[in-house]
Amino acid sequence: MRTILITGGTGFLGRALARQLRGKARVVLAGRNNEQNRTAALATGCDVIPLDVANLASMRDAVVETRPHAIIHAAASKFVDLAEKHPHECIDVNVVGSQNVARVAMEHDVGAVVGISTDKATPPVRNTYGLTKALMERLLCSLDGKSATRLTCVRFGNIAWSTGSVFPIWTKMQADNNGLIGSTGPDMRRFFFSVDEAARLTLTALDRIEELHGQVLSRVMKAAQMREILDVWVAKKGGRWEPIAGRPGDRLDEDLIGDTELPYTREVSYDGVRHFVVSFNTRSPSPPAQMLSSANAQRLGDDEIAALIEPPKEQ
Ligand SMILES: NC(=O)c1ccc[n+]([C@@H]2O[C@H](COP(=O)([O-])OP(=O)(O)OC[C@H]3O[C@@H](n4cnc5c(N)ncnc54)[C@H](OP(=O)(O)O)[C@@H]3O)[C@@H](O)[C@H]2O)c1
Repeated sequence: MRTILITGGTGFLGRALARQLRGKARVVLAGRNNEQNRTAALATGCDVIPLDVANLASMRDAVVETRPHAIIHAAASKFVDLAEKHPHECIDVNVVGSQNVARVAMEHDVGAVVGISTDKATPPVRNTYGLTKALMERLLCSLDGKSATRLTCVRFGNIAWSTGSVFPIWTKMQADNNGLIGSTGPDMRRFFFSVDEAARLTLTALDRIEELHGQVLSRVMKAAQMREILDVWVAKKGGRWEPIAGRPGDRLDEDLIGDTELPYTREVSYDGVRHFVVSFNTRSPSPPAQMLSSANAQRLGDDEIAALIEPPKEQ
């Protein structure tokens, strides 16, 4: 059975990956916080090891100990406003950490590395977090081909109910403030899908690594304006919402494929779903006609929003 090491595997996406890989691979989850590590071990039944990707020696220890065939690199510092205020930590984890993951994978002949990126890395980048993830994409894709290790990235928008995201925040706000939600961006449009869809996209990249190495894989996602989600939320769960001051680093729309990337992007269909492959330095013979933006994406219907705002049941 293959061994798959998931950096940041104790987080929201990592635990969903562990569930999807159950019985198919030996999965080892890794993170820094030992209490969270213990909780993830109990929730998933996986082995969990301590790891700080920003520390090269720690990364080496993890790979020597687990001897993985593949690494899914999900560890990140991912809060946009914190990264604006404290860029050092975000750069250490997302850039230096990703470099450490790639270096050690290449040194130890790990077969494949899949880095988890975000729509915030799509050009034109608006914030420090997005810049660090854009660098991770370039780093992994450029290192591909220099050793036996295949490296790729996946890029997607918001995962509903992920750690620190709006749905858990709104739930807490309502509990603390008599049902009132303060929204920092009701006019913003955002891509959303479920954690299971994010995990599936990640595993597609791993399964198709021979075809995708050195490139970034994304897929169509539906989007919604935040006020549409707020209205469904209030209709289903009660309470009310009001706009509050925005946060540094946010923008009105997010893009999955930017304008300047179009000439380097090709469309593919996997399992009937439109996917997009960005190859930074190779022109595509048939680029998509227009960029994939939350401004022009297909909108989530009220029923789809209602399904997304239900908290997922972790198994
Ligand atoms: N959630 C979204 O909407 C979304 C959208 C696009 C992309 N992504 C990307 O998807 C990945 C997973 O996100 P998530 O929502 O699952 O986040 P999460 O729940 O916060 O998980 C992140 C994990 O990374 C670990 N981590 C952080 N710094 C680390 C370090 N230096 N070394 C080792 N582990 C570290 C954390 O554990 P410790 O703190 O204990 O180390 C945590 O387990 C991230 O790369 C994120 O950028 C997320």
